[in-house]
Amino acid sequence: MCGIVGYIGNKDAKEILIEGLRELEYRGYDSAGLAILNSGEFNIYKAVGKLKNLEEKTKDFTTSGFSVGIAHTRWATHGKPTELNAHPHLGEESYVVHNGIIENYIELKKELEKKGVGFLSQTDTEVIVHRFEDNKKTIADNFKAFETTINELDGAYAILLVTKSSDDKIFFAKKGSPLLVGKDSNGNVYFASSDTAVIGKAEEVYYLEDDEYGYAGKNDIAVFDKSGNKKSLTFKRLSTNKLSAQKEGYRFFMEKEIYEQSEVIADTMLGRLKDEEVFFEEIDDSFFDGIDEIKFCACGTSYHAALSCAYLFERVAKIKTSVEIASELRYKEPLLTKNTLFVVISQSGETADTLETLKMAKKAGLKTLAVCNVDNSSMVRTADTTILTRAGIEKGVASTKAFATQVCVLWMLSLFMAGKKGTISKESLKEQLHLLRELPKVLKVKQKLHDRIKKLSKRYLHGHGFFFIGRDVFYPLALEGALKLKEISYLHAEGYPSGEMKHGPIALADPELFTIALLPQNLLYEKTKSNIEELSARDSTICIISSKNEEIADDFIKIDEHSHYMLEFFEMMVVLQLLSLEISVRLGNDVDMPRNLAKSVTVE
Ligand code: F6R
Repeated sequence: MCGIVGYIGNKDAKEILIEGLRELEYRGYDSAGLAILNSGEFNIYKAVGKLKNLEEKTKDFTTSGFSVGIAHTRWATHGKPTELNAHPHLGEESYVVHNGIIENYIELKKELEKKGVGFLSQTDTEVIVHRFEDNKKTIADNFKAFETTINELDGAYAILLVTKSSDDKIFFAKKGSPLLVGKDSNGNVYFASSDTAVIGKAEEVYYLEDDEYGYAGKNDIAVFDKSGNKKSLTFKRLSTNKLSAQKEGYRFFMEKEIYEQSEVIADTMLGRLKDEEVFFEEIDDSFFDGIDEIKFCACGTSYHAALSCAYLFERVAKIKTSVEIASELRYKEPLLTKNTLFVVISQSGETADTLETLKMAKKAGLKTLAVCNVDNSSMVRTADTTILTRAGIEKGVASTKAFATQVCVLWMLSLFMAGKKGTISKESLKEQLHLLRELPKVLKVKQKLHDRIKKLSKRYLHGHGFFFIGRDVFYPLALEGALKLKEISYLHAEGYPSGEMKHGPIALADPELFTIALLPQNLLYEKTKSNIEELSARDSTICIISSKNEEIADDFIKIDEHSHYMLEFFEMMVVLQLLSLEISVRLGNDVDMPRNLAKSVTVE
């Protein structure tokens, strides 16, 4: 994820761009930059690190009169966070900012290099501006050259491009990454990845659809569809309340983040799923050399993500896998052997216990990998290699989309490893890639499902406790469901393997014990059902989450039928998140900032 902003008009362009970037910094903050075309001259500034560095660099720069500007805050996908890799990227007389991934950039770059074009950065984005300038040599109309350029790109993008010979315009295009164009009654034009960046500035906005592109000048916005037809635009009035706009109409950040999962998971997979393999540009071919064991280490929700995927690593990649709670590993004097890949999983990258175990592993000479959501965080800086989960900033203290993206990355990593080790057939790998591609659809929250859960939640506000039960990967998911409920409802909840209930906990069963049972159709169905029957026979109140209703259930939350248990996993995850959210709302709790908790636990 990156954030982009654009502006055309007579106001202070620098201020507008910087303020816009500040609102978008959550989308990425490893570097930032801006280009402003004022009185025929480009003024370019770039800085590595947080936006405040760019602010410092531009503090003496001012614009006056009419200007055209584009700006960007970056979350690296290709190339390290350096000034050269920061946007805007430069051609002979044009600049571009881009959010997304250009999947065919290598072939486009090779063609340009053959023509003698030099590249300064390691990014995929730079190819856009050079391609545009190459097209401009044969196409007299700048906008037509831009149109031709867009048609050459594969992948996902939100693009703003400015060029000296059309110095009153911004060319723009959108496919798969968000982009809006806004205007005010004085003819000023604004662009942004999200409306929070233009609140208080633009009065009306148009949210571009995929494959739309166009140009804008003062008082003039033209948008075209995929076939090149000019669109008549219906602008929406923009809210003036920043906080509610940040929540985009949702009651809580947690709710927004649950709904966002479908979109962010697409970002997580962007550029990583090829036709016949998973691809991580972060991991080179020799990375797994000498590795015959994996040790995951994490805390809380991230620990649950690791537990879930440990099943996949052993099952699919046929590699011995263990999972450790970081605060436990620290003091148990563990045997850390060099044939082990040490993987830390963390949303923040700052959790003190996890970070310490990473340092321990490094000290013991192990190869280390961080699966993390925050670039430049301490873990990212410490680990040998990092895979970013690309969930975007998570504001709700109860983690939701971070968990979804962690499981997705680890699932992909298990397939990546299986592919390298040859433990998966071509056909199975293809099938799994197909399943991964289904995730954005599976994670889309259906209003009917949410309404059902909202209604049901009123029955689950009392009682002496909750058991969340499941088998196999659904056991860690049950742990996660129980953790979500505990965190925001303050009700007692436990996650348990279904098959283990009869070894003690079943003694608690009575109508005031609520059992939330995960019953997938595609994994150990009959076995899990028998475990639920055992609890039903002892009169526990049972809510089954499944695609098939069973008579043993007091309540039933229906998910869609899926062809594979991992798709059931992700839909059940959404159900569990919504269930805790709705119970917490009914109890009148602060969903986003539950008592006694903090978003990042940097103390032991
Ligand atoms: C629960 C939650 C916590 C974190 C844990 C680790 O909703 O957010 O359990 O998962 O504190 O944090 P990270 O992933 O930042 O290392």
